[in-house]
Formats: sequence, C-alpha cells, structure tokens
Amino acid sequence: MAPLHHLLALVSTFGFISVQAASDLQASKPAKPDPCAAIGGKKWVAPADVRACYSSFKVDAAIKSNILEVVSKTLAFHTSVNYQIKAPEPFTQSVHEDLFRDIDRISHTQYASDYDFHIDLSRTLKRLNDGHCVWINSCYDSSFINYLPIPLTLLTEKDGSQSVHIVPEAFQVASAEFPDEISVWQNALPGSLKGKLDSLSGAKVLLINGRPPFDAVNANAQITGSYQAFGTRQNSFFSSYARAAASFNYIIGNFAQQSLPLADSVNLVIQRVNHTLPDIITLPYRSRINPATVPFNSSTTYRANNCVAIPGTNGVDLHDSSLAPSTAAKFQQAPVPPTPQKKHLLNVFLDTAPLSDVVLPPALQPTAPALNGSFGVGTFYMQKDGKTGVLALGSFSGADYNLMQSGLLKGLQTLKQLGATQLIVDVTNNGGGYICVAHWLHRIIIGPKSTTVPEAGLDTEARSGPLARQIVQQIIDKNLDPNQELLYNPLNWNDADNVQFPANRNWLLPARDVTINGRADSFSPRLGQECQPEGFTSTPPDVGLFEPSQVVIVSNGRCASSCSLFSITMSKEEGVKTVVVGGKKDVEQEYCGTVGGQSTDFSTIDTEIKTAQLKNSPLAPPDLLVHGVQGITWRLGFGVTKTNEPEEWQEHRADINLPLTAALVNNPVGIWEVVAAKVFA
Ligand SMILES: *[C@@H]1O[C@H](CO)[C@@H](O)[C@H](O)[C@H]1NC(C)=O
Ligand SMILES: *[C@@H]1O[C@H](CO)[C@@H](O)[C@H](O)[C@H]1NC(C)=O
Ligand SMILES: *[C@@H]1O[C@H](CO)[C@@H](O)[C@H](O)[C@H]1NC(C)=O
Repeated sequence: MAPLHHLLALVSTFGFISVQAASDLQASKPAKPDPCAAIGGKKWVAPADVRACYSSFKVDAAIKSNILEVVSKTLAFHTSVNYQIKAPEPFTQSVHEDLFRDIDRISHTQYASDYDFHIDLSRTLKRLNDGHCVWINSCYDSSFINYLPIPLTLLTEKDGSQSVHIVPEAFQVASAEFPDEISVWQNALPGSLKGKLDSLSGAKVLLINGRPPFDAVNANAQITGSYQAFGTRQNSFFSSYARAAASFNYIIGNFAQQSLPLADSVNLVIQRVNHTLPDIITLPYRSRINPATVPFNSSTTYRANNCVAIPGTNGVDLHDSSLAPSTAAKFQQAPVPPTPQKKHLLNVFLDTAPLSDVVLPPALQPTAPALNGSFGVGTFYMQKDGKTGVLALGSFSGADYNLMQSGLLKGLQTLKQLGATQLIVDVTNNGGGYICVAHWLHRIIIGPKSTTVPEAGLDTEARSGPLARQIVQQIIDKNLDPNQELLYNPLNWNDADNVQFPANRNWLLPARDVTINGRADSFSPRLGQECQPEGFTSTPPDVGLFEPSQVVIVSNGRCASSCSLFSITMSKEEGVKTVVVGGKKDVEQEYCGTVGGQSTDFSTIDTEIKTAQLKNSPLAPPDLLVHGVQGITWRLGFGVTKTNEPEEWQEHRADINLPLTAALVNNPVGIWEVVAAKVFA
C-alpha cells in the first residue's frame, strides 16, 4: 500500500481529520490570521487548531534534506537496518521496512506542509517497531498532547470472553489530572448524560467510530511503533501503570493520549455499568501544551523557540567543550540522570510521548510500607502471605547508579530477613536503563555461576562501517581520547574471551562480513562482558538470594532494552517464569521486546565523529538544523539459545498470560496476589 493511502486508511478508521483536510487549510486565503498565534499562550486548545499551526509551515527544502541526510548517515551506525528489511521469524510479519528505499521515496515526495513530511518520516521509522530506532522532532512530537478523559482497557470475564471497557478508575484519573478541562468534557456529553462523566467509568465499549473496538486497536498497532510483537503494540492502546520515583504512575494509553493532534473527537457506543441499553456519545479530544514547550505567540516565535537545534541536539568535540544533556533525554522511556554518565552505558528505548507523570489513583497504590533498600523507581514490598516479596522496578536507571545497585541488594536481603522465599519482579512499562544494573540484578538473585560470572548479560557486536572504523583508527593514531570518554575507544571493550582490547587495536576489525536480506553488512568481532568487576559498585553475595523456580517476572509485555536483557537471561538461562498481564487471548504475548544491546543516538555519534576530527568526512552526518533526535541500536546482543543470531529476533513468549479483570486492572497489589497464588502454588 502506498504510504499516503496507508495513512489515510488509518485516518479514516479513527475518524481522524485527514491530511487532505489539513492541507485545505493551507489553500485558504493568505490574509488569514497567524494560526500559531491562535494557540499561543493557551494551556488547552482544540487539536484542529494545533494542526492548523503545524500545517502552516511549508517544507523548507534545505531543512528537509538536512533531516534526511542526518537520519540516513546516522543509520550507518544502527545495527539492525538490514535485518529490518525483512526480519527473521517470528517477526517477519511485524517488521519489513526498507528504510533507505523509503527515505529515497520521501526525498522525492512533495508535501503540503512540513508537518506532513514529519508524519511520513516518523511513521516510516516507527514501522521498524524498534523503540531504539526512532525519529523524533520536538517541533511536533508531544509539543501539544491530545487527551480524552476515558482511558480504555481490555477485560476478561469469568466465562473467558473479552471486551474493551472504559477503565473503572477513568473519572478519578481524569478529574485529578485534568481539573481545569473536565467541564469541557462534562458539557460535551449528550442529553441526560451531560455532567455525568463519572457514570462512564467501567462502561463496556461496543463500537469506536462505528466499528468494532479492535479495528481501532489494530490500526493503532500499525502506527505506534516501539515493540516488534503485534500483541505488545495492541496493548499500547490501553492504559497501564509504571513504578516511578515517587509513586506508581498511570500510563493513559494511545486511545486517550496521542503525541500528535491526530483526532478531533471520538464517537462511542457504550453500555454503562448496570445499564442494559447502550448510550451513544461523542467526546472531543483536547490538546494540552507540554510543559517543556517554550512559550510562543506567533508562527515565527513557535518555530524559533521549539523547532531549531539547541545545545545537545548535536554532538561536540570533547577537546573544546563538555557535553550538554542530549536532546534524547526528553523521550527516553526510562528516567536517566540529567548529567551524562558516559561510563555507565545505557540501553533504553525512545518514544514520541514523554514519560507519564500522571499518578495512579490512591486506591490503586500499594499501602504496605516500602521496605529498606527501596530507591523510588525500585521499591520493595512484602505481601500479606508472609512469603512473597515484590520488587517493583519501573526502570533500570532513574536513580543514582551506585544507589540502585546497593538498594537492589539491600532490598532483596530485607525481603529474605522478613521471611520471603519467593520473589515477584514487576517490570511493567520498564523501558530499560543501565546495562550493568540489569546484569547486577541477575547476578545477585541467581548467585555466581557460569551464566552470571563473568557475564550476566549477552555478548554483543557493533556495526563495523567505514566511518566507525576511521573513528577507532583516529583515536588510536592521534591519541584523541586520553580520558577514555568515547564509545569507540578500544580500551572500553573486552573481546569474546573477556580480555580488554589493547589501546592500539582497531576493535572493529577483522570484521564479520555477512549478507542480510541481500545486502552486504559488517559487524565487529564479538564483544564479551563489560560490567564485572568495575561496573559492579557493591560486592555481590557468594550465594544466590532466591531459587530460580521461586522467582517470577511480571509485566504487560512493555519491558524493553535493559529490561529485556534482564528478563531474557533470567528466563532462558535460569528458567525463571514470565507472566504477561492482559492482552488479547488469541494473540501471542511476549514478555519483552526491543532488546538491542546498547542504544544511543545521533548526538552521541556526532560527538564521536567530532572528537575524532572526522566531521569533514563525506560519511559524517551534518549538524542537525532542527530540534530532533534519531535513536539507534549501537550494539546488538547475541542469542542465549541460538548464539550466532541476534537475540532481537528470537522467541520471547510469556510462560503465562494472566487475564485482566475489572478487579485487577491497574491494581499492582491485586496482580501480585494472583500471580503468587498461580505461579508459586
Ligand atoms: C451496579 O450494581 C451493583 C449491584 O446492585 C452495585 O453493587 C454496584 O454498585 C452498581 N455499580 C454502579 C456503578 O452503579
Ligand atoms: C511575542 O514573543 C516575543 C518573544 O518570544 C516577544 O518579544 C514579543 O513581544 C511577543 N509579542 C507579543 C505581541 O506579545
Ligand atoms: C530497616 O532499616 C532500619 C534503619 O536502618 C532498621 O532499624 C530496621 O531494622 C531495618 N528493617 C529491616 C527489616 O531490615
């Protein structure tokens, strides 16, 4: 299907205003008032008005070609481009995107506006369904966020039937998060429902825009990106929770939260709780300015304040200046400390939506005290049964690196002192973080054995492209990285036997040359472990803390990057059980996705290039002119079972799929109780 048709097909499924309508705005009289001035200085606006502002910018040929050149040349450092042309089974159906062919198509396509160009490029990268390799432009993505006050969920009845519902806690969440806008939705309800938004909570959803709800769920799965598995992308339509620094937070889901102003309203046929007759309602989406969007009062100030490169968008020559925080930080799906900590390597996925700061309603928060060792994003609880300990871990970063390691150890030891013999690790919506914290957690739960010492993770390879090889050679020949700050410094890596490379060894050679989907590709020799001993900042105990059979990893399948590294090695090497909560019962549920090995982005690669004095190379991406981010997988982890194939494309089917009921939805403690009873019985 041609991409424009593709877009329009999705648009009509959702009842979205189409790109054609958006371009009609452009065709109207030039005397029209400035469409960005109309939304400037306002907190809540209509999505159509945001679209009018975004669509008012014509494509600037120089900017378009700059973006495409930066993205293309950065992709030379992304490990998976050629695999993603046609991913191996079981992901062939889900991932079949030839990026370079599409970038060429985009370069030859005329767009009515810069916004239309952005949507096409963004969705092209999202079709990789790889949360590491995403194009984000802050000019559009999440500059304004589109909301409805009725997050949805998929519930399973006692008889096994499944239906989409408005979440039972919808009104609580919406009135707490949108107190200044809720009256708009109250007044939008028809007839006797007016002012009774609370009566919609828990309602069964029979139709969305005149179609069965899964039409909308599946249309969203085609454009949401981030995870290879179809089931995981279906689940992104629905609400969920995540452990954050101060509390459990609420993830609204793609139905009720959009990072672009795609839809203006939704028409639903619902059956309210304790009602037999259906109600038909239409609710408007409302667009709220992102607090990170810099205030503006015109098209000119909107562009100047939000759309041009800022410090951190591009890299620096480390000989001249120090690093600014990367632009990517805003979109990393795990909190990462603001100061770059190069020594602690990250594997974290990106999304066009920022991390949620909506708080899970108080009635759904655990009431048991957080135990010693807890560090916010990692919190320990003892269950009422006196034998099940819980670690709720919302990210593998998000707290101080050393504190995370000491806290994980202390918390698990505290649980044992309190009598815990079994452990639930809840990684719902854990988007990754520090690689060595993932290795650490595996090592301390399991104890020292061949799968944890010297390496509790996966072997990896980087791509061995010509510019990458030159970077390494420059570092060696000209001693350009005396402080060992660069990723390409040989001293930062160990070979397959876990021996550190000498300072003068071009570690990308001899390359492993392969043909992938008919394209020639080159990878570095295999890299061994990178975390032990220096990356472990506490002393690991001599024995494992829990029996693998008494450990279970629980999530909604949205566990990525370092969370995948942890879950995969625990599952495949130690036999730890995995549970996915929720999801359509006839669709396979994966316990993780977007594995990678190490992620990074354009600005980091640009720092490597500039510090290696290679910015003049024809292979080097130019500085990016817009406030954008291109993420990549920089090293790819190799498989546990099929050791010569990337783990990215191997099976990660959950052992158990726990159906979500009205009592369990977004209720972590309720879920842990059922998991303990079911798995440890
Ligand atoms: C639905 O009916 C049941 C049984 O009468 C009652 O317990 C429950 O509170 C009602 N729920 C709502 C939302 O009205
Ligand atoms: C618009 O904002 C700019 C700064 O961003 C300011 O200099 C200017 O005075 C503002 N104009 C109006 C009409 O408020
Ligand atoms: C938690 O820490 C406090 C203060 O260090 C200590 O008094 C208490 O005994 C600890 N509790 C457990 C269960 O280890």
